[in-house]
Amino acid sequence: MATTMITSNPGGFAQTPAPGALSGFDLLGVQSAVAAGLPDPAELARLANALFTVSPTEAIAAPQADGNAGQPAGNAAASAPSSAPSVSPLPGSSIPADAAVPGYGTFSEPELAGLPASLSGTSGSKTYGTPGGIAPGDFSSVPSYGFVEEARPLFSAPSPASVPAGPATEPAGLLGAVPQPPQSKPADAAAPQVPGTVAHDVQGGRPALFDFISSARPLEKTDVVPQLEPHAGQNPASNTMAAPFDVVAIRRDFPILEERVSSGRQLVWLDNAATTQKPRSVIDRLAHFYEHENSNVHRAAHELAARSTDAYEAARDKVAKFLNASSSSDIIFVRGATEGINLIAQSWGRRNIQEGDEIIVTWLEHHANIVPWQQLAAEKGARLRVAPVDDRGQILLDQYEALFTPRTRLVSLAHVSNALGTVTPAAEMVAIARRHGAKVVVDGAQAVSHMPVDVQALGPDFYVFSGHKVFGPTGIGVVYGRPEVLAETPPWQGGGNMIADVTFEKTVYQAAPAKFEAGTGNIADAVGLGAAIDYVNRLGMANIARYEHNLLQYGIEALQRIPGLHLIGTAREKASVLSFVLDGFTTEEVGKALSREGIAVRSGHHCAQPILRRFGLESTVRPSLAFYNTCEEIDALAAVVWNLKSGRAPGL
Ligand code: ALA
Repeated sequence: MATTMITSNPGGFAQTPAPGALSGFDLLGVQSAVAAGLPDPAELARLANALFTVSPTEAIAAPQADGNAGQPAGNAAASAPSSAPSVSPLPGSSIPADAAVPGYGTFSEPELAGLPASLSGTSGSKTYGTPGGIAPGDFSSVPSYGFVEEARPLFSAPSPASVPAGPATEPAGLLGAVPQPPQSKPADAAAPQVPGTVAHDVQGGRPALFDFISSARPLEKTDVVPQLEPHAGQNPASNTMAAPFDVVAIRRDFPILEERVSSGRQLVWLDNAATTQKPRSVIDRLAHFYEHENSNVHRAAHELAARSTDAYEAARDKVAKFLNASSSSDIIFVRGATEGINLIAQSWGRRNIQEGDEIIVTWLEHHANIVPWQQLAAEKGARLRVAPVDDRGQILLDQYEALFTPRTRLVSLAHVSNALGTVTPAAEMVAIARRHGAKVVVDGAQAVSHMPVDVQALGPDFYVFSGHKVFGPTGIGVVYGRPEVLAETPPWQGGGNMIADVTFEKTVYQAAPAKFEAGTGNIADAVGLGAAIDYVNRLGMANIARYEHNLLQYGIEALQRIPGLHLIGTAREKASVLSFVLDGFTTEEVGKALSREGIAVRSGHHCAQPILRRFGLESTVRPSLAFYNTCEEIDALAAVVWNLKSGRAPGL
């Protein structure tokens, strides 16, 4: 699947976490280790950051094996840490390539793949990428490094299976050879031990030593390469392996990821549910538009009008293919998902919703998928009904279906919850709604950057998303509408571009999509969105989904280990979001502590107050992931939270 299956936390917890209580998924058994005698945290952070600042032309160790295909999908066992993670053999290693841990994917990349040759110490190098990152249309030049091994934690210890016990120096890795003190006696003999580490002393429920290093745990090789099972709503066209996934190279395509914040710390962008960062190709495309193409569209005979119209309509074509819409005419450009939902409510809704009719939303919705329907219901005398969720934040499908009556006209549901990350069973929900004769809107704002979407397979009447959530510009978004529904939907706004003919007596409208695009649209940003889609397509949405699945699983396991941290939203199928609260700290305090270390998350209600209140909360801390995030960044997040909790963070 394109999403993460959480298998380790059965039951979740009740609406309001008991203060101070460690829920079933607070601690799986802490195994983080302390590497005594390492350089100070600031120095290590500097070295860590060097991972992402290697010159694009610097030699990188070439992989010895490629591909992750054909490995078993994860299962319940995959959530348990393993002391014997499977790795492909390094040159000279005796580890069998197929030494898989049950329930875990088999690694087939070299242990140090993706590291600069100068640091990894492996032989065989390859010139890396192109200056400036992946050139448009030139993604094939990126070498195959697999996609999780590059994201090994900077401070991870080597695999116990691959390193002889008790070396005097840690094997050369990212940090080079680091002098190690004599190995100390493990505090917890049951925990996996690696040279240069001691186990976390869980006596008293408090970490023995948790500074930036010690709380960066080793990478337990989790369910690394889950298989994506085809499911309804998945666009087969985007399910091909477009290219290997090299997160180090990918990060170079995003200039802002090099940004220094908070007195010189490198930005760690974990606020992707709020907005995503933009690749160079999108930034350049915007500049190119304004430098070479800028004109209004559809309105003139001159060359620039032709260029801008071509660029704008090409972007529409790209969106149509991205969603697997039947035609570009099904794609309407708007400012964003919010405007899209308002368009539907004010055009289709005002025509079709009458007094006594019912509209169903879910408890997971963003305010943008509640308020427009409330406004419409108030205006029309209609009724809003809400599909409930369980304690993990999953839609209760039977209760959802029980809400339908002969008066149900419309369902509007999130594809992915922005506050919890729950992936809703959208295909089933759409099918149920259609069986009951209701129209369906799917809010894909939090889905399109994480999973393939196929609107024809999913089957909604409308699907909306925002460009800025999928690595495109702000101010541009999309409404997909089924052609027959768009045909019977009146325009929302009147003005230029949407008309075929105007007299003082009467106006004849254009057909969709022009009917819904009154006035000069956001031409450049639509073109920028097209470039963002090109970028995502080059990575391959299925590859993105796989990588993020592992990253999210890694994040869940890292955060679960922090005493007093409660994950909010533990759905079996999740994407991107790691909402949590921390006993003894406000979400604002946690957010500020993270910000001081350069880590950007959202703290607050996430414009989704009803779902947070469902869990007895007014706010959470919400890290949210994208494909350019790494395990190292999650380690940094966990370290700051752990230090805060253990009283080691600088004053609040
Ligand atoms: N809807 C965006 C969020 O969830 C802004 O943060």
